[in-house]
Amino acid sequence: MVPAPRRVLIVGAGAREHALAWKLATEGVEAFAAPGNAGTGQVGTNLDAAATDIPRLVELAREHAVDLTVVGPEAPLVAGITDAFTAAGLPIFGPSRAAARIEGSKLFCKQILRRGDVPTGLFEAFTGPARAREWIEAREDMPVVVKADGLAAGKGVFVCADRGAALAAIDALAADPVLSRGGILIEERFDGIEVSVMAITDGRTIVTLPPVQDHKAAFDGDTGPNTGGMGAYAPTPFVDAALLADIEARILVPTVHALRRGKVPFQGVLFAGLMLTPQGPKVLEFNARFGDPECQTLLCLLESGLGPLLAATAARRLEEVETPVWKRAAAVTVVIASEGYPAAVQRGLPIRGLEAAAALPSVQVFHGATRSDGGRIVADGGRAIAVTATGDTLARAKLQAYTAVREIRWQGAWCRKDIAEKGLLEEHRRAAAADGEGA
Ligand SMILES: Nc1ncnc2c1ncn2[C@@H]1O[C@H](COP(=O)(O)OP(=O)(O)OP(=O)(O)O)[C@@H](O)[C@H]1O
Ligand SMILES: [Mg+2]
Repeated sequence: MVPAPRRVLIVGAGAREHALAWKLATEGVEAFAAPGNAGTGQVGTNLDAAATDIPRLVELAREHAVDLTVVGPEAPLVAGITDAFTAAGLPIFGPSRAAARIEGSKLFCKQILRRGDVPTGLFEAFTGPARAREWIEAREDMPVVVKADGLAAGKGVFVCADRGAALAAIDALAADPVLSRGGILIEERFDGIEVSVMAITDGRTIVTLPPVQDHKAAFDGDTGPNTGGMGAYAPTPFVDAALLADIEARILVPTVHALRRGKVPFQGVLFAGLMLTPQGPKVLEFNARFGDPECQTLLCLLESGLGPLLAATAARRLEEVETPVWKRAAAVTVVIASEGYPAAVQRGLPIRGLEAAAALPSVQVFHGATRSDGGRIVADGGRAIAVTATGDTLARAKLQAYTAVREIRWQGAWCRKDIAEKGLLEEHRRAAAADGEGA
C-alpha cells in the first residue's frame, strides 16, 4: 500500500489550492503552498515561488522534504513541471508535459478523441486566421464555435451564431499577440446542458468523481462574458448513475486508453467538459487538472482520504486504493468576485465577515485572490472568495451557501444569485415526471 503523504506542496494560488490544502490538513498532512494566498497561509505554510517557476519549486520541494507535490493550475503542467520533478526523483500529482497537451492543445485533444472514437464535435483545424477565414467564407451560413488551439485562460473560445460572428472571432484571435501565434479550430456547435465530469487516473486505473455543474457566464441566467467559473454544485441531477456509467465507459476510459496507446499515459485529473445533447454526451474539451470551483465543491463531499488517493496516483498504484467514499449530501459553491471582473479589478480592498461566515455550520470559506496585509485580509484580484456549503438536499446546501455569502463584504464585491438553480429546477422536473408516471 502506498503510504499516505505527511508533507505536501500545493502549486498555485486560488480557491482550488486552498481547498486542497484544507482537505489535506484535516487529514493531518503538513501543507505548503507556492505561492498560495491568505487562506493557504492559515491552514499551512506559503512559500515564495511563482506557480511557473519550476526550478525554484523543485528546490523548495527538496528544502521542505515534501513527500508529494500537487499541481493546481494548467500553466505549470503544460510547461512541464511533472517532467522536471520526476527527473529530480520527486513524487508529483499531475500529467507530464506531453499528456497535459490534452488541455494545452485543442487540436491534440481532438486527435486523441478521434483515436479513441470518443463522441465530440466535427471540426476543422487551421494553421492560421487566413485559412480559417477562407473556409468560413466558402461555407453556408451556420452556427459554429471558433477556438484558439493553445491555452487562452478562458478567452480563446467564441460561440458564434453565424458567419459574421465567426469572422469577427477569427479577427479577434488574429489581433491577439499570443493567440494569433497558434492554430485555430472551427467546431460544430452544440446545444444542450453543460456538465463537468472529472476522473483521477494513473494512466491505467480510473476513479470517476461525482458529476458537477459549473456556471461559467458572469451573470444570472448564464448571461455576460465567460469567466473562470462563478459557482458550482454537486452532484448534478442532469447526470444520473446510468449516464455517469455511460460517460465513464464511452468517454473517460477510451480517452485514458487512447493516451496510453499514444505513448503519453495520463497521470492526474482528467476533467471532461461535456455537453449533454439529444444524441448523448459529447466532449467539448478536456482539462488536465481539477476545475475551480468544481474542486472546492467535490472536496467538501469527499469523506475518505484525499492524500492516499493522490499519492497512489503519482506512484501509478491507484488500483491499490479503496474506492473513495462520498457524503450522501449536496454541495454548493458560490464565488464572490471583485467589481469589474472578468475585466480589470481594484486590488487591496479589505474583506470583512470571513470569520462570521466560516463559523456557520456546514460552511467552508475558501480564499482565491486574497493576501494578508498587516493582519487584514484584502482582495487581490477577480475571484477573491469561494464559499462552499453542504446540506442533505441541494436546496439546503444552496440556502446555507448564500446565508454565508451575505456575511462577507468588500467594496464592490458581487456574486451570481442563481448558482444551483438549474439543478433545483431539474430535480423538480424529474420528481414531477416520476409522480406523473406513478399516478
Ligand atoms: N462545440 C460547442 N458547442 C457549444 N458551445 C461550446 C462548444 N465548445 C465550447 N462551447 C462553450 O464555450 C465554453 C468554453 O469552451 P471550452 O471549454 O472548450 O474552452 P476553455 O477556454 O478551455 O474553457 P475552460 O476555461 O473551462 O477550460 C464552454 O464551456 C461552452 O459553454
Ligand atoms: Mg479548458
